[in-house]
Amino acid sequence: MRLILLGPPGAGKGTQAKRLEETRGLVQLSTGDMLRAAVASGSPLGQQAKRVMEAGELMPDEIIIDMIAERIERPDCRNGFVLDGFPRTTRQAAALDQMLEGKKANLDAVIELAVDEGALIERISGRFSCAKCGAGYHEKFKRPKVEGVCDVCGSTEFSRRKDDNAETVAARLEAYRGQTAPILPYYEERGLLRRVDGMADVDEVMRQIEAVLASV
Ligand code: AP5
Repeated sequence: MRLILLGPPGAGKGTQAKRLEETRGLVQLSTGDMLRAAVASGSPLGQQAKRVMEAGELMPDEIIIDMIAERIERPDCRNGFVLDGFPRTTRQAAALDQMLEGKKANLDAVIELAVDEGALIERISGRFSCAKCGAGYHEKFKRPKVEGVCDVCGSTEFSRRKDDNAETVAARLEAYRGQTAPILPYYEERGLLRRVDGMADVDEVMRQIEAVLASV
């Protein structure tokens, strides 16, 4: 199965993509995570990504398209994948179609996580993750079971994303409205777009996604 999760920053794309990886064995392809790995490596691409991400802007299409084209060729993607954060522009959406055509493969669904923008700031500002294994948490919605200790690996160190401050989030939302939301009609016209209520709790969002997947 090949899916896209679409939605603004903080809509829950990463949360649900990780669940789909666990429950269905779909590989999570997060362009944001790939770029953060490049930043951590200190490579020239990472230095560029650091500047762009901290400004809340989008990386150039050609860089992102090459990154995904290389990634979906790897053997682990043969059983399916869930795209999280890609495509984000009409050019990226068209490039994805070409990549899939070349593999004689189709998209099964494009799932929009519909959310209320006002709630996103709270979601994003409360987010943190384990500095060692990357497990995600939230101050209000998902605290570690033992305060200050990662549920997954037991580490006591946590970190926050540099682009999760109010100013950058405003720019990220602007980029979503101006450059990403316009691709929704592209998928709607092809009968691929399905909406789920991204404001429901995490388990309910997952149930709605599963209902969509059962119908495709
Ligand atoms: P990226 O990493 O993709 O960030 P984003 O799209 O801004 O999305 P987020 O990761 O912030 O949110 P999410 O929807 O995954 O929500 P999450 O599940 O974490 O991109 C970062 C940057 O990289 C971009 O700004 C751009 O510069 C660059 N970039 C990336 N891809 C690119 C591309 N294709 N082209 C060009 N540039 C690109 O949830 C958020 C919080 O809410 C969490 O704490 C979670 O626990 C909580 N939560 C989740 N669901 C719920 C729920 N249902 N109820 C309550 N809380 C919830």
